[in-house]
Formats: sequence, structure tokens, C-alpha cells
Amino acid sequence: MSEFAKLPRHVAIIMDGNGRWAKKHKLKVALGHRKGVEALRSIIRESSDLGIEALSLYAFSTENWKRDPQEVEALMALMLEFFASEIDELDEKNVCIRILGDKDGLPEKQRQALIDAENRTEKNTGLKLNIAINYGGRAEIVRAARLLAEKAAAGVIRPEDIDEASMARELYTKDLPDVDLMIRTSGEMRLSNFLLYQCAYAEFMFPTVLWPDFDLAAYHEALHAFGSRERRFGGR
Ligand code: FPP
Repeated sequence: MSEFAKLPRHVAIIMDGNGRWAKKHKLKVALGHRKGVEALRSIIRESSDLGIEALSLYAFSTENWKRDPQEVEALMALMLEFFASEIDELDEKNVCIRILGDKDGLPEKQRQALIDAENRTEKNTGLKLNIAINYGGRAEIVRAARLLAEKAAAGVIRPEDIDEASMARELYTKDLPDVDLMIRTSGEMRLSNFLLYQCAYAEFMFPTVLWPDFDLAAYHEALHAFGSRERRFGGR
């Protein structure tokens, strides 16, 4: 039996603090991100082993294009490297990969690698691993509204049929449960446009540890804390 009283079905993580970690260790920022990928590997593995249903990770926001081109390039290279080196193991572990965000706005190599990873694992029934790349929460909601409007204009649905559930079905996370636990590392307490619709009733945790130092002990601590929170969803 699991050591956890109650596990979240859907965990979301804003992996913040790679830059500060690099600075603290007098390293280039790209090395902070590289170290961040190591942390991410073990959190994915553990989530799968614990039987968590969905894990959503914020890897690259639509705002991240504003960073130094060298840093953007390093992040894009890391993504390719990540999928090349991890896809066999993830597939073996029955992990189903989905990209949240606009893949068409990515360089061709990255776009293709992400599509390949999604296609290869789409029938897997284990951990649903969502990686947000070129993602923005408001843009996701606008996109969903537009998709519903197109359906209404085409007569497929009536405007009065539009409700919270039909809206949720047009999001990238369509068939996934709402986020139960949102973790942002490095002590920053912001959502930064991540999963705005899906976090309506999420529990938030803001560990001060920088993302590259977020180890299994820190993850377990967050999961234990989640188990002890009382969730009322607006009730008493
Ligand atoms: C925030 O730290 C982190 C990011 C913007 C990128 C997160 C990406 C990864 C961990 C790796 C890439 C992902 C995959 C799927 C391989 P920051 O740089 O904003 O940190 P700072 O606030 O300390 O500067």
C-alpha cells in the first residue's frame, strides 16, 4: 500500500529557479536548465511509480521567447535531447505523452520530435504526462472559445449547449481531471498563465527549493501536505 493517505489525481508543476540555481553555482544558465531536466526525470518516474494519473509540467511559456536567444536555443536543444534519451523508457513505463500548447510555433525539428513522442505513446494507459511548451493559459481558453464558436456557427452545437464541461473538452487537457495539486518551486507565488481554467480548485504549494534541487524527499513532502489539506470545493 502507498505511504500516502490521499494522492492527487493530477499534479501540475511550475519548474522555477533554474537560472538562480545556475547563478548560485557560478554556472551558465543553460547548465541550470540541464540540471532541471535531471530533476524532472526523477519526478516523472516517481509519479508513474506512485500511480498518479496525470502530471503536467510547464517547460516553455509563450513569454519565454523574450529570453536571450542563447538561452532559448539551449532550452530547445534540451527538449530534443530529452525526448531522444527518454522516449524508450517512458514508452516502456506505459506513459502517455501529450504536449500542451502551440506546436506549430516551434522550430521544425522540435515540432516533429514532439509529434513523434505523442504518436508513439498515445495508446499507453499509464501516467498521462503533459508537457507545456509554447503554452499560455489565456491563449488556451481563447482557443477553446473559438473552437466552440466554430461549432456553433456550423450548427453542430447550440450556444445554450455551451457549459463548463463542453468548454473543458476543448482545452488541451480535454479528458483529464482538474489539477488537484499545483507546485511552484523557488518560492515565487504566481501562476504565470499556467492551466488557468484547470486550477479552479487546485491546492497550491510553493516550496522555496530551486527546481534543480527539487528531489524525491521534497516531492513526497508536498504529496503528504496535500493529503492533510481539507478540500471543500466551495462547500462547508
Ligand atoms: C524556470 O526557471 C524554468 C524554465 C523557464 C524552463 C523549465 C525547463 C526545464 C526544466 C527543461 C526543459 C524541459 C524539457 C521537457 C526537457 P528560470 O530560468 O525562470 O529560473 P530563474 O527564475 O531562477 O531565472
